[in-house]
Amino acid sequence: MREIAGKDGGMHVFQPVSFEDIESGPYQFGGDNWMLITSEKDGKVNSMTASWGGVGYIWDKRCSFIFVRESRYTKELLDASGVYSLSFMDHKEYHGTMKYLGMVSGRNEDKIAGARLHIGRDQGIPYLDEASSVILCRIMYRQAFEESGFVVPDIVKKVYKDGDYHTMYVGEMVKAMIR
Ligand SMILES: Cc1cc2nc3c(=O)[nH]c(=O)nc-3n(C[C@H](O)[C@H](O)[C@H](O)COP(=O)(O)O)c2cc1C
Repeated sequence: MREIAGKDGGMHVFQPVSFEDIESGPYQFGGDNWMLITSEKDGKVNSMTASWGGVGYIWDKRCSFIFVRESRYTKELLDASGVYSLSFMDHKEYHGTMKYLGMVSGRNEDKIAGARLHIGRDQGIPYLDEASSVILCRIMYRQAFEESGFVVPDIVKKVYKDGDYHTMYVGEMVKAMIR
């Protein structure tokens, strides 16, 4: 195989880095970087905690990718409204709040009132006023994961024993805001 040389005629030297070190900006995913997915149906706004997702680029648009299980009340709201926001909170200050929003379902109570959070709105899309940064998204594509699609079957055994599969939502980023 032919090696492609750098400007100085030698090969470039690469150092391994952790993924976290090359992620930049206010939107970080994985680990302790939880976010709140906020959506609405029939005038009722609800937020749920999520840690899986990301931002990227597809169909010549900047998008966010989120993964919501069939059983979530949030899924019903996403499918009804076609829009959502991602609110990124100060993790220390809102850790307890995000645990609550990630344990209780909005089917059973008004979680935003319960968490003493406030709803902001931009272009008709609700978000959390207490957030440090916000992404507003319009859903472009959704697809539920299926067992047949998994190349690594261990994931099905580990994550979907109960059949409660995630649906992937690809949302066009309509606006990003930082406080
Ligand atoms: C740290 C954390 C991360 C979570 N990430 C996700 C996620 O990415 N997708 C998902 O469907 N549920 C996730 N959950 C679970 C939901 O937040 C939880 O089931 C919530 O009660 C759903 O609320 P809802 O029924 O009002 O939509 C997470 C929970 C926590 C605590």
